[in-house]
Amino acid sequence: MDSPLFQLDETACVACGACVRDCAFRALARGDDGRPVFAHPERCMRCQHCFAICPTGAIAFDGRRAADARATKDLELPSAEAVANWLHVRRSTRQFKDEDVDRAVLDRVLTALGSVPTGCNARSLTFTCYPNRASLAQFKGAFIRAIEEHRDGTKLLPRWLAIPAIRLRKGGEDLFFRNAAGMVIISTDETNPAVTTPQEDVIAAITYFEMLAQANGLATCWCGFLRLVQKEVPELLEKAAGIRRTTPFYAMLFGKSAVRYPRTVQRDGYAKIDYR
Ligand SMILES: Cc1cc2nc3c(=O)[nH]c(=O)nc-3n(C[C@H](O)[C@H](O)[C@H](O)COP(=O)(O)O)c2cc1C
Repeated sequence: MDSPLFQLDETACVACGACVRDCAFRALARGDDGRPVFAHPERCMRCQHCFAICPTGAIAFDGRRAADARATKDLELPSAEAVANWLHVRRSTRQFKDEDVDRAVLDRVLTALGSVPTGCNARSLTFTCYPNRASLAQFKGAFIRAIEEHRDGTKLLPRWLAIPAIRLRKGGEDLFFRNAAGMVIISTDETNPAVTTPQEDVIAAITYFEMLAQANGLATCWCGFLRLVQKEVPELLEKAAGIRRTTPFYAMLFGKSAVRYPRTVQRDGYAKIDYR
């Protein structure tokens, strides 16, 4: 059965069954002639594995045609060694140059990030980007105002938040945002029932953001403290950025690095490997 989602070019299909075998939730079944039948559209999570695996490009999925897709064999990939090297070399940078990053580089990173995996392929992510210092300054300003209003309401703030906030307001050391050039907040829609793994989705995406950003020459630093704010004083983020207390998110700072690390850190034996 064809549907707007799944369309088969019967003249190109060789009835090999690869698409049916690779269908995670058995939305596809084999018909009498061995060709795929979209038997259970309601089970389809739109992962496009059928489209990707078809050896002859006989499947069009949701209007996407094989002829328009990039052939995996034509894509240059880093070697295993290069990927491991990347992991050794990646760093959290906390000293940024006083410059904005190139918007085209940011576009490239955020566009590539559209390929991140999400649980059950829910793909409900939002990449909220403060692309430059002016934009991040607005976020910081709103955050500081929210802190001050909170305090004026005579509500207590945790010490880890109150003391650095005073410094930040006075233009002193920026322990929260590290004087970065920009920030991305990756969130997901917790009200969408299709989102089965909300917190995992945002952490996975922010991790890939770190990888892509550093591969594109940007320096990054995890902004885990914003999550702490959400856990301990959620109204601050609701006020400053409209991030609900229930919205899963993670944030990453970025910019041009003001420092260089001539060597890797030594973390052999850092994690326990436990073969069973
Ligand atoms: C979940 C998570 C949250 C983090 N939050 C912060 C943060 O709020 N501020 C910060 O300066 N670094 C933060 N970091 C960076 C860690 O401190 C850093 O990864 C660790 O010290 C190792 O250094 P490296 O990233 O250079 O290898 C965070 C890292 C992770 C994985």
